[in-house]
Amino acid sequence: MKKRNISILLFLIIINCLFTLHSFSQNHFTPGEIWKDNNGVHINAHGGGIVYHNGKYYWFGEHKGENSNAALVGVTCYSSKDLYNWKNEGIALNVENDENSLITKGSIIERPKVIYNKKTKKFVMYFHLELKGRGYEAAYAGVAVSDKATGPYQFVKASRVNAGYYPINMSKDSRRDRLKTEDYKEWWKPDWYKAVDDGLFIHRDIIGGQMARDMTLYVDDDGKAYHIYSSEENLTLHVAELSDDYLSHTGKYIRIDPAGHNEAPALFKKDGKYYMITSGCTGWDPNAARLLVADNMMGEWKRYPNPCIGEGADLTFHSQSTYIVPVQGKKDAFIFMADRWRPKDPIDGQYIWLPIQFENGMPVLKWMDKWALDFFDNPK
Ligand code: DGJ
Repeated sequence: MKKRNISILLFLIIINCLFTLHSFSQNHFTPGEIWKDNNGVHINAHGGGIVYHNGKYYWFGEHKGENSNAALVGVTCYSSKDLYNWKNEGIALNVENDENSLITKGSIIERPKVIYNKKTKKFVMYFHLELKGRGYEAAYAGVAVSDKATGPYQFVKASRVNAGYYPINMSKDSRRDRLKTEDYKEWWKPDWYKAVDDGLFIHRDIIGGQMARDMTLYVDDDGKAYHIYSSEENLTLHVAELSDDYLSHTGKYIRIDPAGHNEAPALFKKDGKYYMITSGCTGWDPNAARLLVADNMMGEWKRYPNPCIGEGADLTFHSQSTYIVPVQGKKDAFIFMADRWRPKDPIDGQYIWLPIQFENGMPVLKWMDKWALDFFDNPK
């Protein structure tokens, strides 16, 4: 009798374990819902990006607290084999307790992205850094490095970028006309826009380096890496080439859509063309996404209207782009990753992941309450 009771007990324990495992395991995406990690806790990786390495995806993002958008912990890392189920791998880059450190607790660390350098075998993280107590005026790019995907990442440096270099697509005339910000104070006037277009802020920041706020990284098929960031007071995007070890800027960069107010760049490449989805600049509030297309990373980028279609399209489904993940093993399968920010309770921010669809050769985003990767096998 005793033996029978023990067997029943064991059986119930196993059923319970299987049930728990099953209830944690997901096989679809539900954009905008709470997304639990392996511990049953809502994923805390905002403004994030993903790197794929040796059969696993690694998702890096901003750790957010309940009351503050400041970096009180650092950059988080989660891993997954299937993109649905994520294991919390802890803090990849820790903020520092030393008040003199550029990444001291209370600084602002946003939009971290990691890429893998095949030559150096290092994982390289870039992020937008703002110095503690100085609002958003620093506009620094931070760099950290690790031998392992999950970290710990060692902080290397942070500063503005490409000091002393003019963009390669800035004309000789514009380089010569040393425009001064004190001559263009009326930002609502056409003269001001013309001056911005002609490189007003490039001139202002030529010595100290260009501002680098919202950002992403992109590694091309030839292994060349690029840092794409909102510069010039968030008015103009830059695409900047990185050195072979990915640790610094080479000084070669272009300006895109001057005075176009683009933030939150996210990129992918299909059939030799580069596509970039961005947002406008409205703080934590959502706005309509934009699309930029080019034949070459350093080439001419042409701006197109909002790629979102249907209800909620004019606010990018109440979200802001952060990254585009190529799905491994599927052709032309890209996932648009975006954040639904909750500035009053930042930790509660939700993730909007949607498949990129193509209509007439152009990328299109449509809302879906629930979807799975097999969507790419049979897009509707
Ligand atoms: C919008 C940016 O995209 C975010 O990363 C963050 O910097 C907020 N602005 C701050 O208002």
